[in-house]
Amino acid sequence: MLPTLRTARLTLSPFTPDDAALVQRYAGDARIAATTAFVPHPYPDGVAEAWIATHLPQFLEKSNVTLAIRARESGALRGAINLKLTPSPATAPAPAAAPVPAHAPAPAVAIGAGESGCNPHSAISVPHLPAPTAAASAAIGEIGYWVAVPFWNQGICTEAVRRIVRYGFDELPRALDRTLAEIRAHHFVENPASGRVMEKAGMRRAGVIPRALSKNGRLIDLVRYTMPRPHDPENPGPAGLNPT
Ligand SMILES: CC(C)(COP(=O)(O)OP(=O)(O)OC[C@H]1O[C@@H](n2cnc3c(N)ncnc32)[C@H](O)[C@@H]1OP(=O)(O)O)[C@@H](O)C(=O)NCCC(=O)NCCS
Repeated sequence: MLPTLRTARLTLSPFTPDDAALVQRYAGDARIAATTAFVPHPYPDGVAEAWIATHLPQFLEKSNVTLAIRARESGALRGAINLKLTPSPATAPAPAAAPVPAHAPAPAVAIGAGESGCNPHSAISVPHLPAPTAAASAAIGEIGYWVAVPFWNQGICTEAVRRIVRYGFDELPRALDRTLAEIRAHHFVENPASGRVMEKAGMRRAGVIPRALSKNGRLIDLVRYTMPRPHDPENPGPAGLNPT
């Protein structure tokens, strides 16, 4: 079962079909689509329901942990956060094809509804990802998130990210038999608020991946933030991108 995690002000818990209407309303705000890789705009009917239906299968496949961000007292929806799990490149199968050309089209909207943030992996292969720095059996976690516009700048996202980072490093091994070597997040260069969230959550800026994804015909530079597994002598830290 997907976990329920608590913080001082929030509960991170599974989405239910009852959340779909609010997801459509909140994520359907153009300001959410503007700085996320795959949230569609306009947000079609039925997409929220379909997206919510993917959460349990993805958790059972050990590929993604997606949770609603809710106010702890009322349970009211505030946003979404996910931790996507990918095998370390050391153990993953080799990429099937050459890097996708820079003008590659963005993926279809239906795929996009499943991502909360700026994960570039399913959009375009990034040929110069840093080499893995940890044990070959470990996975990499990638965080994505959005918070409904009326609740911005109240520290909600930072609080949720801190909690899911703790879950990823401390609780995931028991829950899903996955040990994370590193947790990453990416944000559009023009989205400093998201970078600030990553900084406040204790992540370190690793650098910029130029033209990492294509959105609405525009090539987007992504900033990568990263956090190595704490207290792991075998993992001194991620290999950096050029920290520009
Ligand atoms: C990014 C997002 C999730 C942040 O959520 P949030 O709950 O408002 O985040 P927090 O309140 O925890 O922190 C926001 C920080 O950014 C800062 N900030 C806000 N706008 C900013 C701007 N234009 N430039 C720089 N910093 C900014 C805030 O002041 C705050 O920092 P502070 O606590 O030091 O003052 C929210 O804006 C969002 O959903 N955006 C659209 C979707 C998105 O971009 N998702 C991330 C994809 S990578």
